Amino acid sequence: MRRVTLTQFLIEQQRAGRISPDLRLLIEVVARAVKAISVNVSKGALAGVLGEAGTDNVQGEAQKKLDVIANEILLQANEWGGHLAAMASEEVETVHQIPFDYPKGGFLLLFDPLDGSSNIDVNISVGTIFSVLRNPAGGSEPTEANFLQPGSEQVAAGYAVYGPSTQLVLTVGNGVHGFTLDREMGSFVYTQPFMTIPVDTQEFAINASNARFWEQPVKRYVDEMQAGKGGPLGKDYNMRWVASMVADVHRILTRGGIFMYPMDEKCRAKGGKLRLMYEANPMAMLVEQAGGAASTGRERIMDLKPTELHQRVPVILGSKNEVERVVSYHLEA
Ligand code: AHG
Ligand code: MN
Ligand code: MN
Ligand code: MN
Repeated sequence: MRRVTLTQFLIEQQRAGRISPDLRLLIEVVARAVKAISVNVSKGALAGVLGEAGTDNVQGEAQKKLDVIANEILLQANEWGGHLAAMASEEVETVHQIPFDYPKGGFLLLFDPLDGSSNIDVNISVGTIFSVLRNPAGGSEPTEANFLQPGSEQVAAGYAVYGPSTQLVLTVGNGVHGFTLDREMGSFVYTQPFMTIPVDTQEFAINASNARFWEQPVKRYVDEMQAGKGGPLGKDYNMRWVASMVADVHRILTRGGIFMYPMDEKCRAKGGKLRLMYEANPMAMLVEQAGGAASTGRERIMDLKPTELHQRVPVILGSKNEVERVVSYHLEA
């Protein structure tokens, strides 16, 4: 069978007029960075990359060594290509400007360099999430305000999952496409065209240790799922929680399901647990492009007008009928 690589896929997208040469370069560079991160992740203890970095990020989280390494790889890979106006990262407090000696382009790149940090040391799947926006600032140095665009403005979004295999999942607004890293060849091979999320599901993902902090609509929904066949939903549900958003969303893009990190009393003061700009928005775009839905419980995630680079939001995403059910419970309440 003829193998289509990411490079060929992107050139064909460009020829079809769906992406510009600069956006193609941007995605190629992100894919190259992801390969380097994959090498570091997979070496684990052999490369001394496990454990704490000994520093905290702007959100007060203790950084793992791999959080720092992945962030450095992405920043360095994307600085010199001329496709970017600036970058933003979970691990960087404010806008990362392109060094003055490199040319600048028209895009803003945002990323969660290493998602699922708590899983690094236990050899469970982790990932990278990225989002691409246009720079509305023209020629001048982008400010934080220039990044604060709703998710509906994203021109591309994707993630890499470092699991038993490394996969890259991507949308440029024309469906969701999956690629698997061929480690010997060093290239991403197009393996999952047009990934779709079934509208119904019998699988849910939530950190159940927070149950006592949940709001009533989420309590009601989880109780109803756990009541199984004899309950109001009339079917049995299975539960999975990897605690790497990338891995949980990848499962949903592969076989359906609903993922929730809802508002709760523990995270209310911060607005939620997951970050809007580089976790919720890119995942929302992928999920919607695959036929699913993504909401805070009260609003479509991609309609939110961001107020801060590191803003947090509640996230409920996945199979459409289930997400709509939870949203209706929130609106009734
Ligand atoms: P990160 O490692 O990038 O900080 O993100 C971790 C997030 C997300 O991946 C996951 O869904 C969630 O935190 C897990 O939270 P719990 O530890 O509460 O399960
Ligand atoms: Mn983190
Ligand atoms: Mn994350
Ligand atoms: Mn992270």
